[in-house]
Parts: sequence; structure tokens; C-alpha cells
Amino acid sequence: MSDHPDTSALARLFGRRVLLGVGGGIAAYKAAEVARLLVKSGAKVRCALTPAAARFVGPLTFQALTGQPVACDLWDAAQELTAGHIALADFCEVAIVAPATADLLARLRAGLADDVLAAALLAVPPRRWLLAPAMNEKMWASPAVEENLGVLRKRGARVVGPGVGEMAERSHSGPGRLSEPAEIVLAAAEALRALDLEAQASTSVIPVPVRDLAGVPVLVTAGPTREALDPVRFLANPSTGRMGLALAEAARDRGARVLLIAGPTGLTPPAGVEVVRITSALELEAAVTARAHEMRVVVMAAAVSDQRPAERSPQKVKKQEGEELLRLVRTPDVLAGLGARFAGQPLAGRPLLVGFAAETERVEEHARQKLERKQCDLVVANDVSAEGAGFGASGNAVVLLGSDGSRAEHAGSKREVAEAIWDAVLARLRV
Ligand code: CTP
Repeated sequence: MSDHPDTSALARLFGRRVLLGVGGGIAAYKAAEVARLLVKSGAKVRCALTPAAARFVGPLTFQALTGQPVACDLWDAAQELTAGHIALADFCEVAIVAPATADLLARLRAGLADDVLAAALLAVPPRRWLLAPAMNEKMWASPAVEENLGVLRKRGARVVGPGVGEMAERSHSGPGRLSEPAEIVLAAAEALRALDLEAQASTSVIPVPVRDLAGVPVLVTAGPTREALDPVRFLANPSTGRMGLALAEAARDRGARVLLIAGPTGLTPPAGVEVVRITSALELEAAVTARAHEMRVVVMAAAVSDQRPAERSPQKVKKQEGEELLRLVRTPDVLAGLGARFAGQPLAGRPLLVGFAAETERVEEHARQKLERKQCDLVVANDVSAEGAGFGASGNAVVLLGSDGSRAEHAGSKREVAEAIWDAVLARLRV
């Protein structure tokens, strides 16, 4: 094969990032020629050598050919910073392994990471590997090698060669010779073309998010509230805020301007939304009422405590003899407050109000009562005692009840349920 067998195919390597991994076999000297051809094609090349490879060819050869530091010691701290195994994995678009020795194939199959090359490759998806096996023809014929390579192929690895011909041991001849360097470089160019096509195909099926809430200001409350008894105790509920966060995230993705008012939750609010943190029901009420009039939609997904201790002790309350009583008072019903404030106004001039009804029995009946009592437009009825739904679960099953008498069931992940709620909201905003 000539030095540049197919110039147009090799042009694909220009500017591409290639990791050249060299295994410990006599054919390692040919890897230097692979490095030279890659550099000549305009590829950016980094090399990693197994300790055995470094005994056949010095790292300096590869460093001189590529102009880059060469990784050969997993335990070299200075090298780890500049050419460490993860840096190499992050760098490469395709990883050539030449020669891929029998030992290296076995270690790659097992997922070992005991030298810098194996460790780097473990962090590169196998479909980005191009293996160029080389070994004595009797080793190549062993069932172990055949099986190992078969498994690696199944994981997506591409293979070039081996060629047939004279072995390093002059009396031996057969399959097992490392493919010619130009052939390996051409196969790398072909692998990159195939990977580019795969990437194009996968990006073209990602649905483009529909930005049907573009610019719409929406307020979502999420999570529990905490009502303090003293500096170290509080009343709360098991809400994690997942449903509210899913609603905020879905609205953001559909283009809405989202204000998230969140009670204490261990979950991280989605990026790109305005977050106001509250602790108690009174703080929630203050935050919601201050901003509700700016909104087109208010979704009350927070699990607001209905009671709070009548007194909050400034010091930790000490236990007492005999019966201990906790006096509670009602917290304001924030949603009902909004319902009353905007009652009778046309939808064009007020926010659309969405409430949740967390129920454990007679779910729809109770939810309908809440819809009327709190004067909202939509209630999401939620059986919090059902398996796989309710507090902390990743999924939910709800019934959407509208003030217009509508009824629709939805089940799925909290994100899917959130999308269904926004669909229902949009249908009402468009009327
Ligand atoms: N809610 C509110 N303020 C409260 C209590 C609840 O704004 N103090 C809101 C919730 O955010 C939810 C809806 O009202 O959107 C219903 O909450 P839920 O806990 O299901 O019902 P409650 O009104 O608390 O009634 P009950 O406890 O009797 O079921």
C-alpha cells in the first residue's frame, strides 16, 4: 500500500483528535509510522503506550513525531495533569490501538484499567475504538483471542486486520501481522466518517422542544413548608418538591419565564428559573401574593402545612411531666386567598389558578370540593396513598378536573404529568 492511498478519505482526518494507543508487541515500531501518517494528514494526535510497548519503542519517538507529551505511566503525577487517562479519553474522537496484542485485548475485554492506555480506553465508548490486532499466528488462532475480540466487536469496537504474512519469528507465517500503517490510518478515517453519520442520525431524531409557552410568566410553588415549634423542631410533611420542580422545568423548556417558590427540598431547582426560597406557610403566602398579579399562571404544587404551632418558643422547649399539649393555629390558605382575590375577573386580566389535591380517599370528590372552595380553574387530583405516585415517587397518576366540568386522567413520570398539566393550562389560555 502506498504512503497515501486515498487522499480524499485521509482528508477526513484533518483537525480530528486521534488517540494512538500502542500495545507491547514487536509490531510497536510500525505504530510510529501510523503516528507519522496521522500527523501528515493534519490530525491532532496524542499517544499512550503500555509499559510493555515502551520497552519496544521509546516514548521519545512518538513525542518527536506528534510534538505532544506521551502517556506511558499511570502513576506519573506530573503526566496525569497534562496527559492523564481521563484527559486523553476526553480528547479523542477515535482511539486507534496498534498493535492490539492478545494481552491487551484480554484486558480491554475484562475492563481492566491497570495501565494508562487501558484506563484511558475504559473511559472511551468502544464504538470509538479501532483495534489493529497483531500477534503470532498461533496466538491469533487461540479460542481466547477469538472470543475476546468477538466480545469487543459486539460492544461496537471496529477492527482492522490482521494481515497475513511473515511473522517476526521468521519461520512463522500466517494471519497475525499488524496491518500496514497506511491501511490503519485509512480505517481510522473511515471510522470517523461512520461515527459522524451516527451522530447526525441521532441528533436528527431528538425532538425540537415546542416553545408554546414562550415568554409567558408562570409561578410554581414546590415542596413542603416547615412550621417551627422552637429553634430545633418543626411540623412538616414528606413532600420532596419533585412534582413542582418537574413543572418548573417543563415550563422552562417550553419557553416560559418561571418563578419557582420552593420550600425546603433536598433537590436542586432547574437552571434558568428564578428561585425564591421559603420555609413556612406564612413566608410562602407573602412570596406568592407579592408576585401573583404579574403572572399568567399560578400552579400551587407546594404541600402547604395547614397548621402551625400557636407559639414559637425562642428557646428549645424542655420536656415536662404529664401530658404535653401542642396548641396549633391555622395557616392561611394561599390558594383560596388567590381564588378570592381574583374571583369574577375574566381570565385575560388575572392568572389562571391551578391547585393540587393530595388525597388518600374519595379522591375526585374531595378534589372537586377543593376546586370550588378555592375558586381555581384546574385541580390536579392526586391519590398520595397509591403505589408509585405521590410524595417522593418518580411517577404520578392524576386526574385533571376543570372548573368547566372537564375531566382527564394522566399517568407517567412526573415530567410527563407536568407536560400534560401545561397542555391543559395552554388549552384554557388560548380560549
Ligand atoms: N394550599 C394552600 N395553602 C394551604 C394549604 C393548601 O395554598 N394552607 C394549596 C396547596 O398548594 C394545593 C391545594 O391548596 O394546591 C390543596 O392542598 P391540600 O393539602 O390537598 O388540601 P388542603 O387545602 O390542605 O385541604 P385538606 O388538608 O383538608 O385536604
